Amino acid sequence: MTVLTIATKPYDDQKPGTSGLRKKVPEFQQPNYAENFIQSVFDSLEGFKGKTLVLGGDGRYYNREVIQKVLKIAAANGFGKIMVGQGGILSTPAASHLIRKYKAFGGLILSASHNPGGPKEDFGIKYNIGNGGPAPEKITEAIFARSKIIDRYLILDEGDIDIDAIGNKTLGDMIVEVIDPVADYAEMMETLFDFDALRALLQSGFTLRFDAMHAVTGPYAKEIFERRLGAPDGSVINFVPLTDFGGHHPDPNLVYAKGLYDLMMSADAPDFGAASDGDGDRNLIIGRGIFVTPSDSLAILAANAHLVPGYSSGLKGIARSMPTSGAADRVAEKLGIGMYETPTGWKFFGNLLDADMATICGEESSGTGSNHVREKDGLWAVLLWLNILAVRRESVRDIVVGHWKTYGRNYYSRHDYEEVDAAAANRLITELREKLANMPGTSFGDLTVTKADDFAYHDPVDHSVSKHQGIRIFFEGGSRLVFRLSGTGTSGATIRVYIERFEPDPARHGLDTQAALADLIRASHEIAPIEAYTGRDKPSVIT
Ligand code: G6P
Ligand code: ZN
Repeated sequence: MTVLTIATKPYDDQKPGTSGLRKKVPEFQQPNYAENFIQSVFDSLEGFKGKTLVLGGDGRYYNREVIQKVLKIAAANGFGKIMVGQGGILSTPAASHLIRKYKAFGGLILSASHNPGGPKEDFGIKYNIGNGGPAPEKITEAIFARSKIIDRYLILDEGDIDIDAIGNKTLGDMIVEVIDPVADYAEMMETLFDFDALRALLQSGFTLRFDAMHAVTGPYAKEIFERRLGAPDGSVINFVPLTDFGGHHPDPNLVYAKGLYDLMMSADAPDFGAASDGDGDRNLIIGRGIFVTPSDSLAILAANAHLVPGYSSGLKGIARSMPTSGAADRVAEKLGIGMYETPTGWKFFGNLLDADMATICGEESSGTGSNHVREKDGLWAVLLWLNILAVRRESVRDIVVGHWKTYGRNYYSRHDYEEVDAAAANRLITELREKLANMPGTSFGDLTVTKADDFAYHDPVDHSVSKHQGIRIFFEGGSRLVFRLSGTGTSGATIRVYIERFEPDPARHGLDTQAALADLIRASHEIAPIEAYTGRDKPSVIT
C-alpha cells in the first residue's frame, strides 16, 4: 500500500453553505478541487483512525468519480472502513440512518439536493457527524479555514474499487463494504409505521402516485410502496435515477413537479400524490384537488402523529425554521409541548433532537423529519401522511380543512428571485437591516409594523449564537414578512421573500393564497424594492 502525499494549492471559495459545499461540476473538476475539500474535512476532524465512514450520493453527474476519490483519500488518512451504497447511491436520510445504526464516525454525502445535475450543473459534498446530522457550524467553519491554507492531501496509489457488487473489499488497510442502499432504510420504516394498516389502505382502493423525479428515491419508493406495501405497478413514476435527472430540476415544488400537480388537480387524480427531491430529503404532498404547504404539513403531521406506532407516546416538542409559518406553533400550544424556532438549515435541529427536546421538525422549504434520523426525510413524510390517512380514513382535503377549522389558517407563500446579482442582493439586505430600528409604528396601507429585527438564534443546548439569519417584519394581527438570501444557490444570489398571514375565521379559509396575501406582497415591494436593486420585476419561483 502506497500513500502518496500530493502538494496542492488552496482555493478560496470552499465555504460550506446551508447544506455543504455546492458548486457547478466544472468547478469541482478543477485540479485537486474535490481532493482539497475532502482532505480539509478530514483535517478538521479528530479521532477517526480505524473508524467507519458512511459514503453515498444521489447519483448525479460526477458522483462516481468523487466516490472513488473519497475512498482513496479516506484510506490514506486512516479510516478503518467505508460503508458505501451500491453504485455510490444513498439517499440523504438513508445515509443519516446508516451512520446512526452502525455507529459510524460520520459520513460524506455527495449531493446538491434539489439543484439540477449534469456536466454543467451542480454537485455537492456534505459532511455529517456521528449523530447522523449535518456538521454544525463549528465544524463547517473549521473545514473552510483549513481549505484556505491546505497545501497537501493524502491519497492511496490504487486503482478504482468496484462499487457495484455488494460485499466487502479492501483498499490498503481499509475495508470497503458495498451495501444495499435501500434495505436498512426500508427496515427502519417498518418499525415506525403500521405497514399492515398501509397495505389494507392500498387494498381498499386508495390510489397513490409518487414521483421520484428520476432522482435517488426511485429504488426506495419502488421497494417500499410497490413491493412491501403492494401498491400497483406504476404507482411510482420516474423511478430510474439519472445523472441529469432527465434534464429537470429534481425539486418537488409546484413549478418543477407540475405534471404531478396537474394530475392531482384533474378529474383522474389519485387519492394521494407525493414527490421527493434529488437526494430524497424533501417532500411534496398533494391531495386530490389540494396542495398541502410544507408549513401546514408540519402542523398536521404533528397534530396527528400520535395515531402512528412510532409516535404513539406523543411528541416531546416541535421545531421549525424561522421562515416556516407559525401553523405548527398552535399545535404545540394545544399539545402543551415545546416549540423551537431555528435558522434555516437542518443542522440547527440536531441539538434539539439529540437532547430529546423536539421530536418532529420542519421547514417551509419542503422538509419534514423526526428524531428517527438527523436529516429531513421525504419518504418518511409520505409514509406518515399515509399512515394517518389509513387510520382516519378521510381525504387529504378533509383533514387539511378540518385542521384549519380547529387551529386557524396561515396563508403562506414564498417568492424567490433566483440568480440575481450577488452584490445588489447583499446591498438590499444590508440597507434593509439599517432601516429596521425605525420601522415599528410605520404603516403600509392598512398594515402597521409592530416589530422588525434581524433574526439571531440562541441554541438552547450548546448556547451558540447564530446571527443575521433573516430580516423579520411583524404586523398588527400576526402577519409577517421575512427577507433573506438563500444559502444553497451556486450562481449569483437568490432573494427569498416569505409572506404569511394568519386567518382565524373558517369562513375565510377558502381564498386564493396570492389574493389573500396581496396587501402584504404590496408592502414587501415598498419595504424591499427588489426591482430597483436587481432589475427583476417579478419572482422567478412562487411556492
Ligand atoms: C436545504 C437545507 C434546508 C434549507 C433549504 C433552503 O434543503 O437542507 O435546511 O431549508 O436548503 O435553504 P436556503 O438557504 O436556500 O433557503
Ligand atoms: Zn435535498
